[in-house]
Amino acid sequence: MIYLAPIQGFTDFVYRKAYSKVFTEIDTYFIPYISVKNGTILRKYEREILLHNNPQKRVIPQVLVKDLNELLFLSEILKDTGYNEINLNLGCPFPMVTNRGKGAGLLPYPEKLKAMLVSFFERSNLKLSIKLRTGLNSPYEIEAIIPVLNDFPLTEIIFHPRIAKQLYKGEINDSAFQFAMNNLNHKLVYNGDIFTLADIKKRKEQFPEIDNWMLGRGILMNPFLPAEIKNIKILHDDKIEKLKEFHRLTFEGYSETMDNSGNVLNKMKQFWSYFSFSFPNQRKVFKAVKKSKNLVEYNLAAQKAFFSLY
Ligand SMILES: Cc1cc2nc3c(=O)[nH]c(=O)nc-3n(C[C@H](O)[C@H](O)[C@H](O)COP(=O)(O)O)c2cc1C
Repeated sequence: MIYLAPIQGFTDFVYRKAYSKVFTEIDTYFIPYISVKNGTILRKYEREILLHNNPQKRVIPQVLVKDLNELLFLSEILKDTGYNEINLNLGCPFPMVTNRGKGAGLLPYPEKLKAMLVSFFERSNLKLSIKLRTGLNSPYEIEAIIPVLNDFPLTEIIFHPRIAKQLYKGEINDSAFQFAMNNLNHKLVYNGDIFTLADIKKRKEQFPEIDNWMLGRGILMNPFLPAEIKNIKILHDDKIEKLKEFHRLTFEGYSETMDNSGNVLNKMKQFWSYFSFSFPNQRKVFKAVKKSKNLVEYNLAAQKAFFSLY
């Protein structure tokens, strides 16, 4: 099974909706985290979780919280919206988040996590999965976290084997993943640096017990990666049509949901920072898109990029 990673600012509902209309190989979609601010949730998060914005078969919303109160507050909202499962973010690495005890900031405190999970399962009937890293400061933090996780009926654990300081770069900690595989009593999902077919083949050989794979940037750069992994052949001309349709739906989606054309332009430039890797002349394509000053120039740059594929 292939899961789409939650990527704040990229895999939003417009992206997920457009993607799932054109590509059919993703089994589970994750909504980038929602969090609490001044006792409530932002409007942008409300739109993200609405059921009609999430028509795919399996969609899991994610929460980023500092304590039990926030967890219960968000899980009530998600339950009322119609979800029966949520994912808890224990991986977000940014200091602004971790300094507030959220994301990977909870990993050095297994006792706090335990108390939070005890109360959550007493008070909520939602299913819960967890996405985590090896640690905030040290990869050995996972050793105290695993026994805590083993005490609860979690749906699954998605593990990105890096510490927070690494952000999304540097060595993947293979032995930490192996340690989790040996010691966790839960279904385990691998996440991290799967950008090509060769990458996943290597990981499958390394971790043969793993059946579920979460992919993020690899899909943003190559939307055909899940099809390649599932051995679904797509002809060259069909590929071009799919890329065009995916882009059209994304552009249309952002045009409908954003306040003004400047915001649409910025959003599409962000989209192309990964999408341009689907084009052989990536740097040139991205440079042209980035240079455009308005949507007319933007559409010309996009058209030219697609033309270069023929
Ligand atoms: C810009 C950006 C935003 C992200 N936002 C989230 C998020 O909201 N929740 C989360 O659990 N992980 C988030 N991640 C981490 C990804 O879900 C994933 O774990 C990470 O990119 C590694 O997987 P990959 O190598 O397949 O991309 C984010 C990553 C990036 C680069």
